[in-house]
Amino acid sequence: MDLSVVILAAGQGTRMKSALPKVLHKISGRPMIWHIVKEAKKLSDDITVVLYHEAETIRSYLKEHFANLRFHIQDHENFPGTGGALRGIEFEADKVLVLNGDMPLIEAKELKKFLQLDADIVMSVIDLENPHGYGRVIIEDTEVQCIVEQKDCGEEELAITTVNAGVYLFKKEILQKYLPKLSNDNAQKEYYLTDIVALAKKDGYTIKPIFVDEENFKGVNSKLDLAHAEEIMQKRIKERWMREGVTFRLPQTSFVEIDVEFEGECEVESGCALHGKSKIVSSHIKTGSVIEESEIRYSSVGPMARVRPGSVLKDTHIGNFVEVKKSHLRGVKAGHLSYLGDSEIGEGTNIGAGTITCNYDGKKKYKTIIGKNVFVGSDTQLVAPVKIEDEVIIAAGTTVTKDIPKGSLAISRTPLKIVKDFYYKFFGKKLC
Ligand code: UD1
Ligand code: CA
Repeated sequence: MDLSVVILAAGQGTRMKSALPKVLHKISGRPMIWHIVKEAKKLSDDITVVLYHEAETIRSYLKEHFANLRFHIQDHENFPGTGGALRGIEFEADKVLVLNGDMPLIEAKELKKFLQLDADIVMSVIDLENPHGYGRVIIEDTEVQCIVEQKDCGEEELAITTVNAGVYLFKKEILQKYLPKLSNDNAQKEYYLTDIVALAKKDGYTIKPIFVDEENFKGVNSKLDLAHAEEIMQKRIKERWMREGVTFRLPQTSFVEIDVEFEGECEVESGCALHGKSKIVSSHIKTGSVIEESEIRYSSVGPMARVRPGSVLKDTHIGNFVEVKKSHLRGVKAGHLSYLGDSEIGEGTNIGAGTITCNYDGKKKYKTIIGKNVFVGSDTQLVAPVKIEDEVIIAAGTTVTKDIPKGSLAISRTPLKIVKDFYYKFFGKKLC
């Protein structure tokens, strides 16, 4: 193996002002740490995640989603800081890539560039208009001399706009030699990984900067950063799908999570939200619709429709204010104002406006099964569990409480009564 990777994720993330550990905050539907591990896996099989704060929560999330990760619990009480985080880890490879757990935009193809430079330390630097919060990097003759953390900066150093992006490639021997020599003699009383640079420089090692951009190396420390990183990730996701042939109307207005997949020719109108492992095949998602963990094939959805997890729509049209949950619709039309939950609906069936599957009795959920070529009149309530066979007509306003056999009409209505001139009697107006 020629590369080991360490992901630093032990920090508390106080600037997020949240009960959720920083690295579990989501970007495009997945925690920040998931994005980083996914990219790191493309580079190495030896990945160590350093944890301390909320270690169990983060570890159990990662174990559920990735195989073969190593975990290292930092001795945070005695050795706080990014330098303390690396103490005691055994690396398999001769080169060690250090990543921060709060950099969700990182991509393997950018990290590969670090491996191409010949130096004892390669480190990422960014030129920023506003360098606030970052460690400042002092470069002379194309080599890094040292890094000064913001809190330790004098006035002159604060003016430096070249900053440490927080990704480094170390030769293993550098870490072995200098990690034990770090001190916490600084403003934060922490063991800074960044101090290794000055120590190695003094001994004549070569330290090369690699200039990177925020699009990939942005660190997330606050909710403001989180929103900014989300914008960058969203742009990346939608541009990828547009290149694959998906039409987006005003792409910046729609939210598409990272696990969503498209196939064939699809169109997504403005203001849509597509969540989870949804798959959209040759379909049209109209303005203001929400799709969650569902499959939409050869169908049109919306405007303003909601498809909730576990649904499969095929050759189907659902229109405005139709909510579908955990239901299979094949060749169905449901144009307006309906709730179709825990249901299976067959080909050629028309669902009238205001149809509701009453799938919940307050304790349990029940299924509604509707066959082929059924005409469900407007304002029908289907009290589940219930089965409607093929070729049934359900009259408008019917409450269906038992199974309906093939070819029948189902109708339940209170008789209509007409009271002549009642209006005028009630409001006391004169009759003409
Ligand atoms: C760090 C760098 C700074 C750089 C910036 C880039 C140091 C001392 N400073 O600062 O030069 O500009 O990243 O984003 O390295 N962590 C641990 N254990 C700890 C402390 C932190 O594992 O004891 C982890 C955090 O979980 C986080 C990462 O290390 O993922 C960076 O820590 P953070 O506190 O965000 O460092 P910065 O102040 O941003
Ligand atoms: Ca940071």
